[in-house]
Parts: sequence; structure tokens; C-alpha cells
Amino acid sequence: MKATLSEFLMEDWLEKHRFSARFNAGESGHRSQNLASFLAGLQPDFSFSLGEALAEVMLCDAPNMGMDELRVAVASLHPGSSLENILITTGTSEAILLLLRQLKPKKVAVLTPAFQLLTEIPKSLGAQILPLSVHWDEHGIPNADLKHWCELLRSERPDVFILNHPHNPSGLVFDDFEMGCLIEAAESVGCIVVGDEHYRFLSGLNPDAGKTLYRPGRFVTGSFIKCTGTPGLRIGWCVGDSETLRAMQSEKNYLTHTVNPLSQILALWFLQSLERNNSFFAPLHREWLLNKETFEKWIKSQESWFGASPCGGLVSCLFSRHPSSERDIFLTLRKNEIFLLPLSSFGDSFLFPSQFSSGFRIGFGLQPGLFKEMLTVMVRNRLS
Ligand SMILES: Cc1ncc(COP(=O)(O)O)c(C=O)c1O
Repeated sequence: MKATLSEFLMEDWLEKHRFSARFNAGESGHRSQNLASFLAGLQPDFSFSLGEALAEVMLCDAPNMGMDELRVAVASLHPGSSLENILITTGTSEAILLLLRQLKPKKVAVLTPAFQLLTEIPKSLGAQILPLSVHWDEHGIPNADLKHWCELLRSERPDVFILNHPHNPSGLVFDDFEMGCLIEAAESVGCIVVGDEHYRFLSGLNPDAGKTLYRPGRFVTGSFIKCTGTPGLRIGWCVGDSETLRAMQSEKNYLTHTVNPLSQILALWFLQSLERNNSFFAPLHREWLLNKETFEKWIKSQESWFGASPCGGLVSCLFSRHPSSERDIFLTLRKNEIFLLPLSSFGDSFLFPSQFSSGFRIGFGLQPGLFKEMLTVMVRNRLS
């Protein structure tokens, strides 16, 4: 019998605290933009008024697979793909759900801890999970035992490998050689590789789209909405062979059907801006680098917090050896207007490192001044 989807633990925490905490670092995205700031940020890269053009967008159903222009723009981020290899979805979540329903996996390899839907959706479809566990050392630095992972992939022969890269919540990024080894190990046993590239736009020193693991024969799901503080746009995509995408679209017709045309035009403008002077995203990327730098300096001076800034993406893990429970530390943080996401909300996908007593996911998307202030408050109130 197939399992039902279990409760999405993380969402309850986020829903309860994200709107009320002054320092909301429980979130996994950049600080949110309002429509005016998004349009103003993009505007220098366009010769027409975006505000006026937005007002003229027809609120009709968009084409089922997504607007052609947007599909072409997404295809250009995935060399080897073209328009027919792109399905526009309502967020990456929908892309992953629809794709896994088509792949009907029996055994799914996943980097763990994992964003919950990456393990729960396969489980609900009757698949077994093969965890490739990230470990943290005594300083709270994440490590991937790639040799062991490759051995597991070869011996356990999963039929699907969901490779979330950059990885939420460790912030791990692999270089080309490491990535090549992992993919080679999976593909050598006929395993289909699915890249979850939700944090791809924040994976290096340059404010660009970052690298993709897409090649014909593989699948990629992705978006830019977390990396740009625009999660409300609910834009996502799946890149893959056209036959699978058409079958996904057929199921999508029962769900969200088409994706909001306003979101699609805004997504198109974002991708076009990225290709031009990058007026909107480059400053956000600089903020990310700044927050990483602030954190690296701060963590060096801490005695009972342990962790590292993310190599990619907007989250990392912060561990404590303080004797207080995770709940008590969480409440003390909250009293000081800080929201960090307890790692227990990752459920049993988290092999919690025994050298620590509690841990939290910390987001790097706050405005740099606020991020710095939050870390100061944590020290001032002896929260460490
Ligand atoms: C790794 C990962 N995959 C998928 C998703 C789902 O993203 P979306 O909000 O686009 O549905 C998230 C959201 O945080 C995520 O972190």
C-alpha cells in the first residue's frame, strides 16, 4: 500500500513565525521584495516602462506549457535544451511532484537532511529512500563523503537520484570533478539524475545563473524565486524530454492548469535583466556575499555556536553545545525577536550530529545591516 504525504513540519514553523519576527532568519530565501522595488530594480535594463507594460498584460489563461518567450529564456539557462524541453510550473514543488509521478521511482537517492518534499513525495509514491548523508565535523563544517556516496549509488542501484545543488540546508556546493563523479556513479547503474537547482543563482562569486547539471537524458527542476526574494511569484520549471513534460502537463491540467501570466512576464523580465546589466540581481548577490563575510567573522569569535557560511544558497546550519534544549534556545531567540528554524523540523531525514545538543537553520537573506544586528543581539543576550 502506498503511504500518504506526511505533515510538512517546516511549514508550520515558518507560517507561525515568519511574519512576526523582526530578524526572520528562519526563511530560506532573500528578504522579500515588493512589486515596486522589483520593477524599479529591473527597469534600468529595459527601454520601455515595465509598470505600463505590466498593466497591459491580459489576465487570461496562459499557454498550458508556459509562455514561449519564457520557455526560451529558461532553455538558454540549460545548454542542450530548447523550448520543447521546458515546462513552466507553479513553483519548483509542483515540478518535482509532477516529475516524480511520471518517473514512478522504486528507490530514490537523496542528499540528507533534505527539504522535506524531496523525501516525502517519493515515499508517498511507494519508493524507498537511499539517504546520502551530509556529516558535520566538530566545528559545524558540513562534509560530503563522496567516495562512500558513489559506492552506495553503485551498490544500491537507485532508479532516481535527486541531487539538490546547492544543498539546502548545508549550503554545500560541489566542484565539476565531484559533481562528475556523483553523476557518473548514478548513470553507470541506469539511474535517472534529477537536479533540484533551486539555489543555482547563488552558487558562486559572480552574480549569474550559476552552473546547471542538465544534459539531455537528465531532468532539472529550478527557479529563481528564493534567490531573489520573490517567492510569491510561484514560478518554477522542469527541464527534460518533451514526452515526459507533456505527460506532466496533462496532470498539471487537473491541478493549477496554467501559471499566472503576471508571474510569467515578471519572470521573463528577470531573466532578460540577468542577461543585460543585471541591475536587479547584482546588488542582491552582493548582499549575500556581505552576509556570508559577516557570519564568517562572527562565528570565529563564538564559543558555543558552531557552523559555516553556505558555499551556495541562502541557508546553513548553526549548532550549539549549550545544555538548554532546542525548544528553550528557540524561545529565548524568539523573545529577542529572532527566528531561526529548528533543525528538528527536517524530521527523520536529519542524522543529527551527536557532538552538538541542538541546531538551527539560519538564513542569509536578511538586509546586511539587520543580519549583523541579529548576530550582535545573539551575543549581547548570551544566546550563545
Ligand atoms: C531545495 C528545495 N527544493 C524545492 C523547493 C520548493 O520551492 P518552491 O517554493 O519553488 O516550490 C524548496 C523551497 O524552499 C527548496 O529549498
